[in-house]
Amino acid sequence: MSDAARLKEDAARAALAHVEGGMRLGLGSGSTSEAFVRVLAEQVREGLEIVGVPTSERTARLCRETGVPLTTLDETPELDLAIDGTDEVDPALRLIKGGGGALLREKIVAAASARMIVIADASKQVETLGAFPLPIEVNGFGLVATYLAIERAAGLLGLSGGLTLRKTGEEPFFTDGGHLIIDASFGRIPDPEALSAALYAVPGVVEHGLFLGLATSVVLASDTGIRVLER
Ligand code: A5P
Repeated sequence: MSDAARLKEDAARAALAHVEGGMRLGLGSGSTSEAFVRVLAEQVREGLEIVGVPTSERTARLCRETGVPLTTLDETPELDLAIDGTDEVDPALRLIKGGGGALLREKIVAAASARMIVIADASKQVETLGAFPLPIEVNGFGLVATYLAIERAAGLLGLSGGLTLRKTGEEPFFTDGGHLIIDASFGRIPDPEALSAALYAVPGVVEHGLFLGLATSVVLASDTGIRVLER
C-alpha cells in the first residue's frame, strides 16, 4: 500500500470508531470515502448493522460489491452521520469538495445528516480555501450565459481566474445528475459565504463545492498520527 493510501485508511479507521449499530449513514465519494466503505464492509461482515445512502453511483457500486447495505434518501430522509472526504478544509471547517464530481449528492446527503465527519490526509488542510479549483455544477442549457454570469458574480467580489469546463478526454464530464462542471480557479477565497451566496444567485448554477457549516469534525491523518478538528 502507498503512503497516501495508508493515510486514507488511517483516517477511515479513525472515523469508523464513531459508527454504532443501527446508524443510518451517508457514504461519501472519492478515494478516501472508498477506503471508509472498505473498512465499514469489514465490520458489516462481522455483524455491524447499518444502512448507507451512497453519494454517487460509484460509491453505490463499491457498497454492493463489498456487501454494505444500502438505502435511499427517499426511504431514509434523516441520517445520523455522513462520512466523506474533502479537497480542502480551512480552520473553520469550511470545505471545498467536488474534485470527483459528486458534490450535489454529497451536499444533499450532508445536509440530511445530523453530523458530518470529514476524513482526509493532512495535506488537505489549508489556511484559506481556493488553491484547489472550485467545482461549480451547472445546467447544460445556456452554458455560455451561465459562464459569463459566474464571471460577473465573482468579479463583484474581487475574484477572477480561469473557468474551465471539466472534461473526460475530449468530451464534457457529466455528473450523476446529468449536469456539467465548471472548475473555477479563483485562487484565495477570503469570504466563502459571500461567494456561495453570489453563486446561488446565478440561475444556471445547480450547486457549488463550498461546504459551509456542514462538517462537524474533520479527521486528519499524517505520518505523526491522527488529529481531529471540531466545530
Ligand atoms: C467527490 O466529488 C469529492 O468531493 C471528494 O470527496 C473529494 O474530491 C475528495 O476525494 P479524495 O478522497 O479522492 O481525495
